[in-house]
Amino acid sequence: MIQKTLVLLKPDAVERALVGRIIERFENAGLKIIGIKMVWVDKEFSKKHYAAHVSKAFYNPLETFIVSGPVIAFVLEGIEAVELVRKIVGPTEPKSAAPGTIRGDFAHHSYKYADSKGIAIKNLIHASGTVEEAEQEVRLWFTSEEMHSYETVHEKHTK
Ligand code: CDP
Ligand code: MG
Repeated sequence: MIQKTLVLLKPDAVERALVGRIIERFENAGLKIIGIKMVWVDKEFSKKHYAAHVSKAFYNPLETFIVSGPVIAFVLEGIEAVELVRKIVGPTEPKSAAPGTIRGDFAHHSYKYADSKGIAIKNLIHASGTVEEAEQEVRLWFTSEEMHSYETVHEKHTK
């Protein structure tokens, strides 16, 4: 039941200097950062990360967006972390994301507006969608040497 999940703070979050405020939300919930780095991805790596989306209409704008600046990549670990992190992040479209979620609190972009401009939805953050996706994405982004094992106070209180 202890899962690892991949989170990316996309170029809009980094450029808007929201890194600290976003990471704080995961730490508040007791999730453990086990690996973290800044990466400026290229188009080839984007196609690996978004392999499931490469043939979709929104892929080209998405690729332009994700390679437009550096991202902060990290792996969170915790109890049923994949679903929990998605809950904290909120749904894909910021306009529909509830207040209290990261996408709902820090962005307001809509599908309609993004499509009318031929750009990707600027939604600040990526989080693995399923346990299977999380396993693949953690493997793609982090080597085992880049991830660390240690005990947090939260673990002491959930034993
Ligand atoms: O990121 P999430 O898992 O919530 O959504 P996704 O369906 O896996 O799509 C990946 C990313 O593509 C989204 O986070 C958006 O940035 C972008 N996207 C878009 O710009 N327009 C769409 N119609 C769908 C996705
Ligand atoms: Mg997804």
